[in-house]
Amino acid sequence: MKRKLILLLLVAGMATIFAATALQAGTEVEDTFEITTPGYDDANRKKGPPQFKPVTFTHKKHIEDYNISCGECHHDENGEPLADLKMGDDVQPCHECHNIFEKDKDNRRDIMVHENAMHGNCRECHKQVNIDAGDPKGRKGPGPTSCNDCHERV
Ligand code: HEC
Ligand code: HEC
Ligand code: HEC
Ligand code: HEC
Repeated sequence: MKRKLILLLLVAGMATIFAATALQAGTEVEDTFEITTPGYDDANRKKGPPQFKPVTFTHKKHIEDYNISCGECHHDENGEPLADLKMGDDVQPCHECHNIFEKDKDNRRDIMVHENAMHGNCRECHKQVNIDAGDPKGRKGPGPTSCNDCHERV
């Protein structure tokens, strides 16, 4: 009898774990959210908490107001754009693949480093936006490119 109960509890426990994972699967996304990535040790971050606020990202605005398609940011395990992605699909967060959180001094630009992937995506597009808006260097204009535009001090 006791054995059966333990087994039952085990099964119930597993079911809870599965349910919790399913919730994180990523079919939903808020319109605007703070990018806080697990993997960083908050105490040792350079541009993160506690000295800096988490970066705020207007996901919905980027799609609807700035007319950017999903595939400009979301891609598959080979880096190929997910061109057919639509709301409601299961989407992997960037840090599941870009899962290196410290730069290797011999390979500082490694794109699998999370920070490089974020800057490569966000900043590079903003630079291009500014170039298109008339600044040949891409620094000034509507697209935020300087550190403190995105990383605000607390
Ligand atoms: C300008 C870049 C950009 C565009 C365009 C974009 N996304 Fe995202 N999306 C992101 C970022 C960044 C995240 C946060 C990922 C993370 O936390 O690592 C995200 C998160 C998500 C998530 C939540 C993933 C999770 O596991 O929590 C979903 C779902 C999603 N996006 C769907 C879409 C769809 C559908 C489109 C197109 C209609 C789209 N996105 C367009 C950048 C973008
Ligand atoms: C399923 C795994 C996976 C996910 C999820 C993922 N990436 Fe990548 N990404 C890769 C791989 C692999 C490459 C390298 C492709 C290559 O070597 O050409 C790459 C390349 C890149 C590059 C450089 C090439 C380019 O497109 O400019 C950037 C920037 C980038 N990723 C940003 C992101 C961002 C931002 C997210 C989340 C919105 C994200 N990645 C989610 C696997 C992933
Ligand atoms: C493919 C292009 C593209 C990518 C990728 C992109 N952005 Fe943007 N971003 C824009 C454009 C266009 C604007 C609006 C400029 C304007 O006001 O006309 C903008 C504006 C912004 C702004 C200021 C206005 C607002 O809506 O808050 C912030 C902050 C910002 N982006 C953060 C990010 C972050 C963080 C990422 C990466 C996760 C990112 N962006 C990725 C194109 C991009
Ligand atoms: C367009 C927005 C944007 C700009 C501009 C930008 N970053 Fe970031 N940066 C991000 C995002 C988004 C992340 C990922 C944050 C996260 O995952 O919590 C990040 C992560 C980082 C990280 C790794 C996390 C940490 O706190 O240690 C560092 C360091 C960093 N940025 C430094 C800089 C520096 C230095 C500059 C200027 C040269 C800069 N960033 C400009 C958006 C930006």
